[in-house]
Amino acid sequence: MENLAKLRQEIDEIDNELVVLFEKRMKISKEVAAFKRIHNMPIYDETRENKIIEKNISKLKDKSLSHELETFYRMIFKISRDIQEKELSKNK
Ligand code: PHB
Repeated sequence: MENLAKLRQEIDEIDNELVVLFEKRMKISKEVAAFKRIHNMPIYDETRENKIIEKNISKLKDKSLSHELETFYRMIFKISRDIQEKELSKNK
């Protein structure tokens, strides 16, 4: 049990970092939305999404996590696109 508490503490610390990074990434995503609006570009960029996934899978030490990392990124992109849509609709 002591061990479980220690492991959970490690997860909590990682989550603290994740929240900071998540907020930072979504803030930039809103700025990307503003750029895309000015330049009349679509929110969805399939090529960019696939490149990001490929690049980051290549950085994995444990390649058995490749599929899960792709799933993680697909979810991040969905959230990012939703935030961009929201940003564009409120600034019309
Ligand atoms: C992103 O990096 O947040 C991103 C990239 C491409 C998209 C959507 C979001 O199509």
